[in-house]
Amino acid sequence: MKIKAGFYQFNPVFGKKDDNLEKVFSAVKPVKDGELDLLVLPEFFAAGYQFVSIDEVADLSETIPSGRTTRFLSDLANEKGIYIAAGLPEREGRNFYNSAILVGPEGFIGNYRKTHLFFEEKLYFTPGGTGFRVWDTKMGRIGMMICFDWFFPESMRTLALMGAEVVAHPSNLVLPYCPQAMPIRCLENRLYAITANRTGIENRKEGQSLKFIGQSQITSYDGQILVKASDDKEELLVAEIEPEKAKNKSINPLNDLFKDRRPDMYAK
Ligand code: ACM
Repeated sequence: MKIKAGFYQFNPVFGKKDDNLEKVFSAVKPVKDGELDLLVLPEFFAAGYQFVSIDEVADLSETIPSGRTTRFLSDLANEKGIYIAAGLPEREGRNFYNSAILVGPEGFIGNYRKTHLFFEEKLYFTPGGTGFRVWDTKMGRIGMMICFDWFFPESMRTLALMGAEVVAHPSNLVLPYCPQAMPIRCLENRLYAITANRTGIENRKEGQSLKFIGQSQITSYDGQILVKASDDKEELLVAEIEPEKAKNKSINPLNDLFKDRRPDMYAK
């Protein structure tokens, strides 16, 4: 089955949750039936990224699934009959997590907490302990990782070994490497990835301006980039993908990327 996978790349404004949710709503609302099945939004798409105090984190974090952003996305997914993966700061008890959720027409599906925290995320967030997650949906087996997780090949490998066919990858990339790396991640695991990055600059801390690189992309199991966004424009882009193709790990009649693995030869 072919499906339409997409991302919405935009420039969220820090702390302006109403405006950021409204922006997503305005981008998704005009999409017609059959034009989109699975949408990925950036990491922290409604909150903004550059926290400078734990009070700000507490203020903008939400419970999942009862919090506002999860309910907003569930309603939107239900109204449009689509699946949506997106990142948000999560609060559970006294801990905060850099999380991403998957929702669908049927409502909330699941939550992943970022395994590999990047830079000053380490000051405020607890490293996720959910482990990588893959969900069986009508649009195929969808796995999740968040931004900097890509830098660790084990993330995508684990998702692939768990049976992911499409990896949703909400991101707030500031380093330049990910867009070039994703074709290799996808090729070596033979699966699709949808990297939804943001644009713009956050300059909330003296001497620490963060420029987000845009360049969201959908990468195929064979290493081809199917669609790629600009560095700085807000855009909702879609590509047709065939998740079942990711089930086949054979690269010739004698080599299968999974059957040929030699875990006993690899360092732990
Ligand atoms: C990142 O993990 N937000 C770079």
